[in-house]
Amino acid sequence: MSTIIDGKVLSLSLKEEMKGRIVELEKRYGRKPCLVVIIVGDNPASRSYVTGKIKAAAFVGMDSRLVELPEDVSEEKLLSVIDGLNADDAVDGILVQLPLPAHINEDKVIDAIALEKDVDGFHPGNVAKLWLGRPCIVPCTPKGIIKMIETTGIDISGKKAVVVGRSNIVGKPVAKLLLDRNATVTIAHSRTKDLAAVCAEADILVAAVGRPCMVTADMVKPGAVVIDVGINRIPCVKEDGTPGSRLVGDVDYESASKVAGFITPVPGGVGPMTITMLMENTIECFLRKQGC
Ligand code: GUN
Repeated sequence: MSTIIDGKVLSLSLKEEMKGRIVELEKRYGRKPCLVVIIVGDNPASRSYVTGKIKAAAFVGMDSRLVELPEDVSEEKLLSVIDGLNADDAVDGILVQLPLPAHINEDKVIDAIALEKDVDGFHPGNVAKLWLGRPCIVPCTPKGIIKMIETTGIDISGKKAVVVGRSNIVGKPVAKLLLDRNATVTIAHSRTKDLAAVCAEADILVAAVGRPCMVTADMVKPGAVVIDVGINRIPCVKEDGTPGSRLVGDVDYESASKVAGFITPVPGGVGPMTITMLMENTIECFLRKQGC
């Protein structure tokens, strides 16, 4: 049976530590770090993520604002809101919750966020810096994943890492962070031939594809570190016999946890760490503004 990498517990201890840091920052600089989260429309999943982000900001004692825009807001209006926040000295971090409605060009929106306020690390300027190995804002989920792997005590250097999924938000940046730590990295995806065999070679396996329970025990090397980034809602039957739904990851936890050395649960794994890293990135943007 594998050891659980508990994202909730790790997040809580990191956030407790941030509370103290924020008190000190306020004493020193006369204000707290401030995060602004923008949500467009009322997608229930986005709404729940955004609520989690605002709650975390309150927990660590930082200032936050939630900007709620209607589903039919024009791209022009959204860009002008971002412009205003870019120019606002009281704002350290700006996050636009994705996905956006189809009539809004996501790239244009990401590009409009001031580089130094891009707490998601999605701006092309930050992405370029990440790949060039320069100091930058590191995207939250990949940053959290590395912290979780580090808690296992395994040395990443020289290990075979397989990242399943090639998204800009998770797959590509986490692969780069693993490469920076001298792992031998494979990025697998939907066209990878014999995915099971590729995964079964991995000392570190990161599943970020958005397909419920896709990674099964036969795809896991005994003793491997398995990081499950998936958050998939699937239908189920509740105890009282009525239809309901539950969250599962991209990894079939039941079977994979019998083989892996370490594994992250869903929920309570990568999700809480992503939000905690957002808090850390906001503090980082605040500090950079102070010239630190
Ligand atoms: N939607 C899903 N994940 C994310 C994220 O990390 N940041 C933003 N802005 N939107 C998301």
